[in-house]
Amino acid sequence: MQMTVLAISLVLMAAIAAAFLGAVRASGSGEATEGAEGRRSLLILVMIVVGVVVTVASLRPWPHVAQAGEVAGPVVNVSGGQWYWEIDGEQVPQGVPVTFLAHTTDVTHGFGVMDPEGRILFQVQVMPGYVNRVAFTFDRPGTYRVVCLEYCGVAHHDMITEFTVGGEA
Ligand code: CUA
Repeated sequence: MQMTVLAISLVLMAAIAAAFLGAVRASGSGEATEGAEGRRSLLILVMIVVGVVVTVASLRPWPHVAQAGEVAGPVVNVSGGQWYWEIDGEQVPQGVPVTFLAHTTDVTHGFGVMDPEGRILFQVQVMPGYVNRVAFTFDRPGTYRVVCLEYCGVAHHDMITEFTVGGEA
């Protein structure tokens, strides 16, 4: 998925660069060419249509639907503060959707979870006055690291903890 997004981004960046270079080259030629107005209107219309289609298509499945309703399955409460994470339950079950309910005791933090190899798995903003929810199914056991992904003060980088998935309880 990330490689697809990267490829699309590179193609679009190349298209923008080509359009920019074309505009720079055409700017020296004085009068507008025949039919330029019509072509520009058509181009804008095409971009609007493509933009709407890509937006709607890329939002499916609608990400918010999965978060609506009651929490089913195991729940892990997460509390963030300057500068620590508290997680109830050291042992997180494997193979079932685990719902993290995250809140902050002070400022906004970013609850981010990394797999045993250090790759980011998911993150959710942790905001004053809200309990933010994110569900994830861990498909293998191991020690997972929690980091903060929102700058929250001088010891932001020290907001690190760990929890264990699967294994012996
Ligand atoms: Cu908490 Cu950065």
